[in-house]
Amino acid sequence: MTTSPKVPTIAFANLKGGVGKSTITLQTAYYLSQKIGFADDKKLLVVDFDPQGNTSTRMLQRTDIEDAGGTRSYQLFNETLDTIKPVLTPCGADLIYATQNDTVLDDIELLSMDVFVNPMEHLTRLAESGKYAAILIDCPPSRSRKLIAALACATDIIVPVEVSGFAKDALTGIMKSIETAEQVNPDVRLTGVIINKFASRSHRHVHEKNLLKEALGDLLFEQTLSFRTPLDEANSLAIPIWSMGKGSARAAAAEIKAVCEEIIRRTGLKMNKPVPPKKKSVRKAKS
Ligand SMILES: Nc1ncnc2c1ncn2[C@@H]1O[C@H](COP(=O)(O)OP(=O)(O)OP(=O)(O)O)[C@@H](O)[C@H]1O
Ligand SMILES: [Mg+2]
Repeated sequence: MTTSPKVPTIAFANLKGGVGKSTITLQTAYYLSQKIGFADDKKLLVVDFDPQGNTSTRMLQRTDIEDAGGTRSYQLFNETLDTIKPVLTPCGADLIYATQNDTVLDDIELLSMDVFVNPMEHLTRLAESGKYAAILIDCPPSRSRKLIAALACATDIIVPVEVSGFAKDALTGIMKSIETAEQVNPDVRLTGVIINKFASRSHRHVHEKNLLKEALGDLLFEQTLSFRTPLDEANSLAIPIWSMGKGSARAAAAEIKAVCEEIIRRTGLKMNKPVPPKKKSVRKAKS
């Protein structure tokens, strides 16, 4: 049996759409590459398995990326792929990209189910080059060959959720996909669940958060991400949240930083400088 890449490979996944998978992938990529950096001059690789191509177009800072060259994520589903050439992005991370509305990547669903093992084989080979300290994978919001492929590549799965009565259903859905991925990658683990778009002053949100904590225990990230408009703006502008000066942007940046540090601690990523030990959740200003 093939083994999964030894390089920590983090898939941000949820069958539900709009919960923040791409936002957290993007801002984590910025944080890890620019703010902190990896030990031994290693790099970050980001892989976009979502045919919407949101993470790719933002990382490359333009929407028309058909001509970006290098390897596209749909090619990872080919059984044979001689050389894999991620493209370098302005933040310093490498990227295996999907174009905006990537129909070729979409059409992977028309192929036989077993194509889902091919990306794992190719990424394992790429990871063996020793160039990368970590791989982040942005997943599509559906149970698909692409999602199972991403989970089969992963060492760690992190699930962003919004607090709602359906958050637990979404987790049940992702657990079923993890079971399928485990058939080829027994080492994959659910590493944590991040509550996104949290409103600490909403009694309902606090109640739902407590229910999730009861159900998940330590799997629930200490740090939540509040709903903050500047984070949405930073995404649209394809910039790190900490480069926006405004008050509530600073609060959003502090939360993103704390989430990234928690990701580093939970996955054991080897960074350039030590990450402070666990501290109390930050929530600085009103959104
Ligand atoms: N904490 C937040 N505060 C404000 N806006 C947010 C926050 N998190 C995400 N958003 C916004 O919500 C929208 C959905 O987020 P995002 O695209 O990251 O979700 P997704 O899970 O990747 O969606 P999809 O399943 O469609 O890929 C985006 O417009 C994003 O900018
Ligand atoms: Mg997305």
